[in-house]
Amino acid sequence: MDQELAAKVAIVTGGSGGIGRAMVELFVEQGAQVVIADVDVGRGEELAADLGPAAAFRRTDVADPDDVQALVDFAVDRFGGLHVMCNNAGVSSSFRRLLENDLRDLQRVMAVNLFGVMYGCRSAGLHMAGHGGGAIINTTSMGALTGGSFPIVYRTSKAAIIQFSRSAASDLAEYGIRVNCIAPGHISTGITNYDLGPTIRYSQPLQRQGSSADVANAVLFLASDRAAQIAGVVLPVDGGTAAGPPFAQTQLLLAQAQGQGGADAG
Ligand SMILES: NC(=O)c1ccc[n+]([C@@H]2O[C@H](COP(=O)([O-])OP(=O)(O)OC[C@H]3O[C@@H](n4cnc5c(N)ncnc54)[C@H](O)[C@@H]3O)[C@@H](O)[C@H]2O)c1
Repeated sequence: MDQELAAKVAIVTGGSGGIGRAMVELFVEQGAQVVIADVDVGRGEELAADLGPAAAFRRTDVADPDDVQALVDFAVDRFGGLHVMCNNAGVSSSFRRLLENDLRDLQRVMAVNLFGVMYGCRSAGLHMAGHGGGAIINTTSMGALTGGSFPIVYRTSKAAIIQFSRSAASDLAEYGIRVNCIAPGHISTGITNYDLGPTIRYSQPLQRQGSSADVANAVLFLASDRAAQIAGVVLPVDGGTAAGPPFAQTQLLLAQAQGQGGADAG
């Protein structure tokens, strides 16, 4: 099979670890030249060295618009263009309840998760608009699609990415730039440093553990020409979580309701 990203140049923010790392590895395998952008210099440089001349590392704090512009300039200078921009870097937020939460991480979480995506879209868009277009994929979260309480600031930042991405998709389409989102859920990485077993059991219809590679496959699709007619969508990679709980959980609730004598309602 032909390589899906032959002769393309890509940037992956948050590319040193987790889901971003899987994107970097898959993109290189699929023929792209990739700039890994991250604040984790050690792991980023090591990954770039492992992947050889098709990869380069650039220390970037996505919360800093000058850093992000310098990143895009670096990619263009190093590899001669920019066709795919993955605004993937993200951080979690406090798991405290709203009335207990002093919102101390609000500024940083919004700066990285939301503003970082906005800076990435603008800087990449400025280059792509003058060079035949491109594909931008922003990483939101299943936590932006489902209801629920904490992490409140994180969910809010990720929900804002979706609305921003729709606006950007509409605004940038005339330049041949496609903007889309992926929404991962329950992927074991540095951000999900808790036992995912119960979460999957109670809330994910597909009873399998999703991997960073699963997310990277979806991003590859959106980055490639196979998605030429797709802009402004949010693609969940969440084992069906956004669709609702597993049937077994619904059945359990029903059985409990019947046990309490109230199960006839349709
Ligand atoms: N793992 C999941 O289940 C899940 C679910 C929904 C959304 N996401 C999103 O996926 C993306 C990747 O997260 P992950 O799960 O791979 O976690 P991760 O912690 O393994 O990776 C995040 C990467 O982003 C980098 N990073 C953090 N702040 C940065 C900054 N200011 N500038 C540049 N890089 C920075 C980190 O160093 C790290 O390499 C995030 O946006 C996250 O919110 C993950």
